[in-house]
Amino acid sequence: MSKKYFIHTFGCQMNVHDSEKIAGMFSASGYNVAEGAKDADVIVLNTCSIRQKAEQKFYSELGRMKLLKRINPMLKIAVAGCIAQQKGYPLIRKFPYVDFIFGPGNLDSLRKWIDDGIPRKVPPRGGRSIEHGTLTTALKHDPAHETEEFPVKREGQVRAWVSIMFGCNNFCSYCIVPYTRGREISRPSSGILSEIKDLCDRGYKEVTLLGQNVNSYRNDIDFTELLRRIDSTGINRVRFVTSHPRDFSLELINAIADLPGVCEHVHLPIQSASDRILDLMNRRYSYKDYIEKINMLREKVPDIAVTADVIVGFPGENEEDHLLTINAIKEIGFDSLFAFKFSPRQGTKAYDMDDDVPEEVKSERLNNLLRMQDEITLTKNLTLEGTVQEILIEGHSGKDLNMLTGRTRTNKIVTIPDANEPEGTLVNVKIRKARQHSLEAVKV
Ligand code: SAH
Ligand code: SF4
Ligand code: F3S
Repeated sequence: MSKKYFIHTFGCQMNVHDSEKIAGMFSASGYNVAEGAKDADVIVLNTCSIRQKAEQKFYSELGRMKLLKRINPMLKIAVAGCIAQQKGYPLIRKFPYVDFIFGPGNLDSLRKWIDDGIPRKVPPRGGRSIEHGTLTTALKHDPAHETEEFPVKREGQVRAWVSIMFGCNNFCSYCIVPYTRGREISRPSSGILSEIKDLCDRGYKEVTLLGQNVNSYRNDIDFTELLRRIDSTGINRVRFVTSHPRDFSLELINAIADLPGVCEHVHLPIQSASDRILDLMNRRYSYKDYIEKINMLREKVPDIAVTADVIVGFPGENEEDHLLTINAIKEIGFDSLFAFKFSPRQGTKAYDMDDDVPEEVKSERLNNLLRMQDEITLTKNLTLEGTVQEILIEGHSGKDLNMLTGRTRTNKIVTIPDANEPEGTLVNVKIRKARQHSLEAVKV
């Protein structure tokens, strides 16, 4: 009987996609996916360290793994992702039931670990923590990673993630990512384009290009040229995350306006609307720069949806700064917003700043912001009632087999009751009812 693997993914789309690559490697080595952690021979925890909460989730899951290992001592546990990269070998020392640690720039090492038959770890002798002849950590960024073609096992058959770059050079003062994912490196366009052509041939309708700052993609060509070439592969929909306001250019705005496959949605994290806080965050744009880009974008692409991230309670953020952000949210009118309380991350610049906004104030500011955004989202959704939208069908809604779900080009979730269309179909629908988090529609 073939062995089984189980992957638990925490964190962002990069990790979700890395897990698809990890699954592909297991699959290529003859493993099957386990139904749950309990049935697995190998478990990979693909971790995230963006905020304290994400890290806590991993540690509590790791506690559960310890119990599973007590029941099945042959079980192997690997830790991947951003916590693995940041903490490294000491994680094994602290949690000796962990067998293997590998970073986001060393996915390929998993292949070696699997192919070596996943060696049993030699218990450290005399307090020494060196493992003889076994691979226990892979954390030194492998330069081949950027050009490596992985046997990706994708979760969906309609929408696919495609990595276009790795790492980040921006060093926003609060952010751990440059320390966990390393320096920015763009993948050569030939690999990206052949991956997307292959996806088209296999019936995929949408790709989302992944990178921490896709606007600064530059290899043999730049990001707008890459978008043009991807658009001409014939893929129906192209999305990309994440954009950085400083690098969001007029050429890119023109490309979004001109290229039929590029969807009318940008995720452009603002973080704060106070120039003083933006400066402390090392974001390198002002609120004026941000709003000018949004205005330009809306002028050229009138039906564009704009979403953003905001951090509340950054060190030194006072009521006045918070009000500036609240007013900006009102002024800009985002389609939706992801808001987070500042969480100090060891090793970053902001970790050494005084985390002086009390927890209750952070919560209050977060609630203010989310309440305001809820109103805006609903008002925006209401303006769509009666309009006709193109939807990419993603499948049936959870329990109701007669209810289809899909997304508009602007990335809004739409449900269509009493309808039946195969997954991956593009249909035109009329929006009948706007809700807070979704739209209800009928086929036209
Ligand atoms: N590269 C992307 C994603 C970064 S992480 C970008 O630049 O936007 C996603 C979001 O998490 C960030 O936009 C930020 O809003 C939030 N974030 C990052 N570090 C944080 C921290 N230490 N505390 C709170 N939120 C944080
Ligand atoms: Fe983090 Fe800033 Fe890089 Fe985004 S751009 S990953 S927030 S350092
Ligand atoms: Fe988390 Fe690493 Fe992504 S810290 S948000 S998994 S880049």
